[in-house]
This record gives sequence, structure tokens and C-alpha cells, in this order.
Amino acid sequence: MSLDFLTDDLLIKNNSFDGPVVVTGAAGCIAAWVLTILHRSNIPCVAIDLTDNKNRLELLLGNETNKIDWKVCDITHLEKLSKIITSFKPSAIIHLAGLQVPFCAENPSLGARVNVEGTINILEIAKKANIKRTVYASSVAALGLPPNGPWKETLYGAYKLANEHTAFVYWSDWQVPSIGIRPNIVYGLARDQGMSSKNTLAIQAAALDKKYEIPFNGKYSWLYAGEAAIAFITSVIKDLTGSHVFNLNGSCETIEYGLSLIKELSKEANITCVNKSFPFPPDLDDLPLRNHIGDYPSISVKKGIENTFRAFEILKSKGRCPSLSE
Ligand SMILES: NC(=O)c1ccc[n+]([C@@H]2O[C@H](COP(=O)([O-])OP(=O)(O)OC[C@H]3O[C@@H](n4cnc5c(N)ncnc54)[C@H](O)[C@@H]3O)[C@@H](O)[C@H]2O)c1
Repeated sequence: MSLDFLTDDLLIKNNSFDGPVVVTGAAGCIAAWVLTILHRSNIPCVAIDLTDNKNRLELLLGNETNKIDWKVCDITHLEKLSKIITSFKPSAIIHLAGLQVPFCAENPSLGARVNVEGTINILEIAKKANIKRTVYASSVAALGLPPNGPWKETLYGAYKLANEHTAFVYWSDWQVPSIGIRPNIVYGLARDQGMSSKNTLAIQAAALDKKYEIPFNGKYSWLYAGEAAIAFITSVIKDLTGSHVFNLNGSCETIEYGLSLIKELSKEANITCVNKSFPFPPDLDDLPLRNHIGDYPSISVKKGIENTFRAFEILKSKGRCPSLSE
């Protein structure tokens, strides 16, 4: 059975772009959804990542994965990256390559090279190639800065904030337009790493009949991966002006509510949470983004959890379910 039901409601018109869409960080979670939606909407896309491991994309797109033009390239190698991107004459860039909170903490200079220099390289290519549709992933972690505010300061957040300021200068000095999206906590199929992947892992554990404890409780952002992906795509459906940054929260619901929905799907689920709040705000407003780019589908937490659970069960029945990450 195919997993097309995950993206059936997210497809877009195939005349939305007049050239291919470049997607960086193609092997990652959000990109797997972006590429699946674009490919299923018959929009040509070019996938770029450091690795050619297509496991996440294959979860969603199955055998169709081989039809996507995939280029292995390090985002920090400007010359090679520029050659690849310009050779396709793309109409838009969706820049998702990056290293998440724990990886930046483990290797700060690599984190800065990938997250900061990598984004500069994308803006530089957009400038040279006169690309008017660039969206890049910032993060709610940027709200942790300046220091001593209510939310946690991280190197990752500092790098993402640097990108937002860089994008502003690319617009003011060279009229390179962009949108920066600050996703909150993405959950759904293919979300398997990073400090905020635990609610997805709990759904997966329930489908695999495994015990799992989420190390947080209380109010939480539930941003379905498909909703995040369609927000990125919608951002570049028309030519942009200015340099804008928006939060992307999804629904604000408690972890306990999510656990109750999982238990409705699997009565035997052995899933718990601990009494600790997540160190980023759970309830940011998506309306400014929707007003700026135009509306895009919302997926309720109930629907998102049901879809994710069903997807893991189907994969399990086919022997294709990934093992549960630590
Ligand atoms: N998932 C979330 O909840 C979340 C929240 C806020 C922001 N974001 C941001 O959204 C973007 C995508 O998130 P995700 O969850 O899909 O991340 P992910 O970790 O699943 O994927 C990131 C991808 O970037 C690639 N990458 C790393 N270094 C690279 C390099 N040097 N050159 C080319 N590619 C490289 C990795 O191989 C990986 O495939 C990231 O920039 C992330 O910081 C994600």
C-alpha cells in the first residue's frame, strides 16, 4: 500500500514554477516532504545534499525516489554548489541544509560553516543568478537571542539569527529577496533526529509496540512535517521582494493531549512523558506568514498523529519501518 495519503491533500498546481526548484538538505526530514509534494505535483526539482542516502525520501516516495535529480554537494563549497545550481536555471531555491542543535553543540565550527556559510553561499548564488524566489530555514531557536531572554540560547540559534541578518543585508545592498521561516517543532514521518524529534519517536514506538518516554510535557508546538513543507513551497510560488522572517508554529497542544491521541490508536501503547517544559515557546502565531505568502493547508494534531501512526504501521507490515532512534 502506498503512502500517497500523506501528501494527497498537499499537492499544488504544476504551473506554479517556470523552472526547476532546488531543494538543499534533500536527505533531511522537511526536504523529504518538500520533494515528495513537488514531485507528485509534477514540478521538476533538484535535490542537493552532502549525502546520497535517500532513506527518508524513500519512506514517503518509495520507488519514485529514483526519478528525482539528486546531486551530492557540500553546501560550504561555493564553486561546486554554484555550478550545480546555475546549470539547472532554477526558478526557486528552498534551502533546508543545516546541522541541528546537538550537532552544532558537538562541533561549533562545523555548525557555523554549514549553517551560516552555507546560507551565505545560497544567497550569493541567488544574487549572481538573479533568482527571485529563495526561502531558507531559520528556527524558533533564533528567539533565544539576545541572551538572558525567556528562551534557551544555543549556538544553533545564534547561527540562524546570523542568517536572518545576512538575508536582510543581501536585500538592502543587492536586492536579493528572501523569506526566512522559523519552524517550531516538526513531527511526522521521517522526523528522526534532533532534540525535538521525541514526539514523533513516541508515535513510532507505539506503532512498533515499544516503550517510550518523552523528556518533556505541557504545552508544545505540533508542526506537522507536511504543513511545514507546504509552507516552504508556498513561500516561493511567486517572485519575492524584501527580506522577511516569519515564525511557523503549527498547533499548540500539550504533550499529554498528543499521548492521549496515540493511546486512542493503540490501546496498549506504553508511552509516557516527564515533567519538564520544552525550552522554546509553544504558541507562536502563523498568521503573519499566511498573510504574507497566501494560505496553505493546516493539518490538525489529531490528523497528523493518525497519519503518522498509520504510515509507521504500513511500513512495519512491509518490513520497511526504520528502527527507533535513541
Ligand atoms: N525539524 C525541525 O523541527 C526544525 C525546526 C526548526 C528549524 N529547522 C531547520 O529546517 C531545516 C531542515 O530541518 P530537518 O529537520 O529536515 O533537518 P535534518 O537534520 O533532517 O536534515 C538536514 C540535512 O542537511 C544536510 N546537510 C548537513 N550538512 C550539509 C552540508 N555541509 N552540505 C549539504 N547538506 C548538508 C544533512 O545531510 C541532512 O540531510 C534545517 O535547516 C533545520 O535547522 C528544523
